[in-house]
Amino acid sequence: MPQPPLTLESRRKLLLGAAALTALAAASWPRALWAQTGAAADKLKIATIGAGREGSALGALFVKAGHPVMFSSRHPEQLKEMVDGLGPLAKAGTIADAVAFGDIILLIVPYTAVAEVGREHGPGLAKKQLVIDVSNPIPRRDGEELVKKINGEGGAGLATQKALPGAKLVRGFNAIGSGQLSALAHRQGEPAGVPIAGDDQNALALASRLIKEIGFEPVVVGGLAMGKYLVPGTPLAGVHTPAEIKQIAATLK
Ligand SMILES: NC(=O)c1ccc[n+]([C@@H]2O[C@H](COP(=O)([O-])OP(=O)(O)OC[C@H]3O[C@@H](n4cnc5c(N)ncnc54)[C@H](OP(=O)(O)O)[C@@H]3O)[C@@H](O)[C@H]2O)c1
Repeated sequence: MPQPPLTLESRRKLLLGAAALTALAAASWPRALWAQTGAAADKLKIATIGAGREGSALGALFVKAGHPVMFSSRHPEQLKEMVDGLGPLAKAGTIADAVAFGDIILLIVPYTAVAEVGREHGPGLAKKQLVIDVSNPIPRRDGEELVKKINGEGGAGLATQKALPGAKLVRGFNAIGSGQLSALAHRQGEPAGVPIAGDDQNALALASRLIKEIGFEPVVVGGLAMGKYLVPGTPLAGVHTPAEIKQIAATLK
C-alpha cells in the first residue's frame, strides 16, 4: 500500500532508524559472512537515485557489504546525518553526482519520476553496467492514468526500458518492504529469495552477484516482460524462499 510523502523530520528519523537497524542486524551476522562480504575482492561503486524508505535501507546493505555507495536526492543535504551514520563508504550527492559516480545504479523513486530521470540522465545511465529498477507504478501514489499507461506498455519492466533506452536493466527488490530488508539480509537458515527480471545476461549475472553479497538469493524469473509481476500485490510480492519463487513464477508464464 502506498504511503504518504515524508516530512523532512520524519524522513530524518526514518533514515537514521534505517542506518541504526542495519548496523544492528549487521552486528549479529556471523563472522564468516562479514569476512566474506567485507573482503570481496572488487568493490563496485554503487549509487542510489532516490534515498527514501527503500533507497536508504537497500543502499545501507551495500555499504555493509563493503561497497562505496552514493545516496542521492534533489536535496542531498537532508541525507547528511544518514550517510554520516553509515561510515566512510557512504556519501550523499545530487542525482547528477550519483550518475557520474556509480558503476551500478539503484533506481528507487516513485514511478512518476522514472520518465523524468530518463529524460535528464538517460545517456549517462545507458553507459552503466547495471541499473537495478526497484521502482513500482502504484495507482494510489502515481495515479490511475499513469498505471494504465504503464500496463499498456507491457508493465513496469518494459516501460522502464522505454524510459531509459539502452540501460542494462534488472528489476529487483520491488516488493520487499524497506522495514524488512536489514532483518532478512543474511538471515539464518534458508536465504530470502529475490525475484529478478532482465534481458541483459551480463547485467543479470552482476545483479545476482550483488544480491548474494548482501545476503539474499536471486532467482531469475524471466526477461523484462516479467517485470510486471515484480510489483506489490502480485503472487511474487513479499518474502519467499527461492524454491517458492520458482514455483510461483512458473504459474505466471
Ligand atoms: N518503501 C518500500 O518498502 C518499497 C519496497 C520496494 C519498492 N519500493 C519502491 O521504491 C520506490 C521508492 O519508494 P520509497 O518508499 O522509498 O519512497 P520515498 O520514501 O517517498 O522516497 C522517494 C525517493 O524518491 C526521490 N524522488 C521523488 N521524486 C523524484 C524525482 N522527480 N526525481 C528524482 N528523485 C525523486 C525522493 O528524493 P527527494 O529527496 O529528492 O525528494 C526520495 O529519495 C517506489 O517506486 C516504491 O514503489 C518501495
